[in-house]
Amino acid sequence: MAYLGHQVRGFDVDKQRAASLSKGVLPIYEPGLQELFSLSRTNLTFGSDPAVAIRDADVIFITVGTPSLPDGRPDLQYIDSAAEMVGKHLTQSTAVIVNKSTIPIGTNRRVEEIIRKAYRRSKPEAEERFAVAYNPEFLRQGSAIHDTLYPDRIVLGSNNAQALEKLKAVYGSIIDQTFEAPAFLPRTETLHRVPVVATDLASAEIIKYAANAFLALKISFANELAQLTERVNADISQVIHGMGLDQRIQHQFLQAGLGWGGSCFGKDTAALVSIGQQHGVDMRIVRAARDVNYLQRERVVAKLTQELGTLEGKVVGLLGVAFKPHTDDIRDAPALDIARRLLARGATVRAHDPAALQRARLECQGSGVQFCESVDMLAHRAHALVLVTEWPQYQSLPWERLASAMRYPFILDGRNALNRETLEWAGFHYLGVGRADRPSTQPPVPSLRAVRRNPITVRETEFGRLRSFDELLTQPSPVPG
Ligand code: UDX
Repeated sequence: MAYLGHQVRGFDVDKQRAASLSKGVLPIYEPGLQELFSLSRTNLTFGSDPAVAIRDADVIFITVGTPSLPDGRPDLQYIDSAAEMVGKHLTQSTAVIVNKSTIPIGTNRRVEEIIRKAYRRSKPEAEERFAVAYNPEFLRQGSAIHDTLYPDRIVLGSNNAQALEKLKAVYGSIIDQTFEAPAFLPRTETLHRVPVVATDLASAEIIKYAANAFLALKISFANELAQLTERVNADISQVIHGMGLDQRIQHQFLQAGLGWGGSCFGKDTAALVSIGQQHGVDMRIVRAARDVNYLQRERVVAKLTQELGTLEGKVVGLLGVAFKPHTDDIRDAPALDIARRLLARGATVRAHDPAALQRARLECQGSGVQFCESVDMLAHRAHALVLVTEWPQYQSLPWERLASAMRYPFILDGRNALNRETLEWAGFHYLGVGRADRPSTQPPVPSLRAVRRNPITVRETEFGRLRSFDELLTQPSPVPG
């Protein structure tokens, strides 16, 4: 907003965060964010006094978190307290209060009620012409700047026509694409206008959940198919390629792997199931998408167990901790869940990440995971590596050196992102997701190379295929979820 020319005052209850933002220290990592921040500084201030931020603002965005409660419902305490604060400090009677947090159907009305009550309490005589709107965000971690400046659509929900017009004006230069594109993120030539969906509150509320749930279930569909392609020696990448060329299907969000993570898909699918229940609708497809997703994580453990015989005493190195590349976000990161499952089975777990190590160390203190500064530390005398996050830098690691340093050079490519041939020539036994263990046309030479290189580690009893895959998956997991 500041980059587009609006005057923005950022408020946070966390005084430290507001103070460090004032000094230009960003709490999250995203490529280009620091540059954009510098370009926008003249229009941007931060503080922890709500009155200063709120009082005469024309538009107030509420952007607090709505984390999941244990039963899947979103926790609305932060949004309620933000609404209370807005009502108390607002002096601009024609302001539009825009909620950007993802919330259940009907919550915007509750937000409006809280604001009105607080407003009346603090200013009994004042006019009351402000309006509430919902403007869901569709930002991906790591590419939020792109998704903000060049969105597929802008969704605006309000039962007040003037509020909708005001918001269209706020977003005017994005809708018409008339702002000057930042040098580090040029506009694609084909983008001239961004569609706006201006609708009622409830429809806007559902659009957000529906979009995230649909993307999540596309991924789960690919992952379920991957289980089948593995069994019949087909290749999931080929299947998705052939499927996705159908213009009605497309390729996006059909990448099979370890499944989705992050702060949105898990939370929003859980919320949609719970909202459905409250309204007497069983969201079966969404439930199934969730089940398939979490099974993908357990399948990593099963594959490692099948390869190594037992996980007790084995050293497993995870390449990547962030829930996806180009971010240091580790919320609902598959890596951490997989690590917990491996630790529970007696393995030693190491993890490396190009951006999320510091955050992971802080947030996972006492977890038992050993966070490594280098991939060499990760691989040293390890029994297996798992590619969890497909960071581009992992494409060209010194594979031969890593394989030599390992006790048993096995790699599970959890994102089908690595070059199998390169890995096999480096001495690894490679396994992907949704692909045959070894193409029938290729002799198992690399594995033998590995055995020759590390003769002491490959013993029939230790690494023999002891149990079937189905057996491993049906065994109860000591780790919840
Ligand atoms: C998502 C939505 O894309 C965004 O519109 C919404 O506002 C917030 O939630 P985000 O969580 O940042 O964004 O990441 P996204 O790029 O959607 O990826 C989510 C997860 O799905 C990641 O763990 C990613 O690795 C996984 N994924 C994605 C797949 O496993 N396969 C795919 O084909 C695509």
